Amino acid sequence: MKKLIGLDKNKTAVFISGNGSNLRNLIKFSKNKNSPIIIDLVISNNKNAKGLLYTYRKKIENKVINFRNQKLSEKKILKILSKKKIKLICLAGFMKILSKKFIQKFGGIILNIHPSLLPKYKGLNTHKRALLNNEKYSGCTVHYVTSKLDSGKIIIQKKVKISKYENEITLKKKILKLEHAIYPEAIKKIIADL
Ligand code: GRF
Repeated sequence: MKKLIGLDKNKTAVFISGNGSNLRNLIKFSKNKNSPIIIDLVISNNKNAKGLLYTYRKKIENKVINFRNQKLSEKKILKILSKKKIKLICLAGFMKILSKKFIQKFGGIILNIHPSLLPKYKGLNTHKRALLNNEKYSGCTVHYVTSKLDSGKIIIQKKVKISKYENEITLKKKILKLEHAIYPEAIKKIIADL
């Protein structure tokens, strides 16, 4: 495993597919004086991802890799990561499942953020399913990535109460706000624990 180096700036890549609010938040976090990461690369499998706009604004290199051929796409990404000496990957709304081979070959740390209280509601439509099941609480989780969907070791998890009048939109908004708080927290935690 490529070791992350304590308080030094760890070169980080963020993988996105859509809106990129977590990306925007991580960029903001990375610009703090005491932040342990520097975001050096953004990968998107979707050329229309809104999140790409933040890379132009903040002058961060981006690569759009369409994943039509997963094997070739992953190979391409590994090459770029190695060239740029990336040690940490943060998945942030990235809608592809990385292969076991990719994870092994990368050798660094890969994190993901998921909008549910894992192990509950892995996969898509988490808010809808939590509401349909009349859950009293939902939340979000930052976890290590393994080749099994949303199943790696949990780093931080925070919960929110689902109110009587909650709908998918309000719940999503509430949880996204919490996501923006815990992703940087989780990064600081794993680096402090090394
Ligand atoms: C977030 O809810 C994240 O937990 C999930 O996908 C969503 C991405 O949102 N994996 P954004 O693109 O960061 O705004």
